[in-house]
Amino acid sequence: MSSAGEQDRTATRDGIVAAPAHVAIIMDGNGRWAAARGLPRLEGHRRGVEALRRTIRASIELGIRYLTVFSFSSENWKRPREEVSDLMGLLKRFIRNDLANLHANEVRVLVLGSRDRLSDDIAGLLSEAENLTRDNTGLTLVVAFNYGSRQEIVAAAASIAHDVAAGRLAPQDVTETLLSERLGTRDIPDPDLVIRTSGEKRLSNFLLWQAAYAEYVFTPTLWPDFDRSTLEAAIAEYRGRDRRYGGLSSRAGAAS
Ligand code: IPE
Ligand code: IPE
Ligand code: MG
Repeated sequence: MSSAGEQDRTATRDGIVAAPAHVAIIMDGNGRWAAARGLPRLEGHRRGVEALRRTIRASIELGIRYLTVFSFSSENWKRPREEVSDLMGLLKRFIRNDLANLHANEVRVLVLGSRDRLSDDIAGLLSEAENLTRDNTGLTLVVAFNYGSRQEIVAAAASIAHDVAAGRLAPQDVTETLLSERLGTRDIPDPDLVIRTSGEKRLSNFLLWQAAYAEYVFTPTLWPDFDRSTLEAAIAEYRGRDRRYGGLSSRAGAAS
């Protein structure tokens, strides 16, 4: 009927579920997955990387344009030093092992978060991933690493304050658009769907500004068990939602 509906149907290769443009995932529950099996937390994180690979593949197949994954939060530095070091090691290995394959699949990698506190080798690998894949036109994979949304908003506010103090901007120039353009997500559309695994129902400092009108799906599945079917179930739930953005329903027959 509508052209938007036509686009939705052609957005997927296999037509099982039409995908939202931007899916963001809080990949949680690695530790509990390992604990349930009497394994060290590192094993849960390792299996979490495999779930990430599956999810990237499924996202490409489903026609998702942007996939953002919360991989390490600004607050995760509070964990024991050994676990932090394990997580850094896994990120390094992921980029070293998977970058060529991501590139071959036309994936564009963007990294969101602060480079402060990251070792030179990690910062170098992140830049390498971004530079190599910069012109790719397939899925955009946004890796939120050492990311905290409040810190991101504070940095944006500080940069605007700096420009106002220097006379380059007037207070009335400060708009939603201006602030959005100072965030790390300036080139990325807002997420349509935010998924959090492991049954926790909180944002934990993830995309507070950007997800103002996202739909949320909380699944009890622990991240290492996440796969294409869990992703499709979340998308199916998303498609049953009525996004009103403060207005009235756009669904046919809903306004009566
Ligand atoms: C998610 O799993 C990975 C990161 C936060 C880095 P967790 O390590 O938080 O696993 P749980 O929540 O302890 O089960
Ligand atoms: C959020 O998970 C961060 C990531 C998934 C990277 P956490 O496990 O750190 O969140 P809390 O501590 O349960 O809120
Ligand atoms: Mg957790």
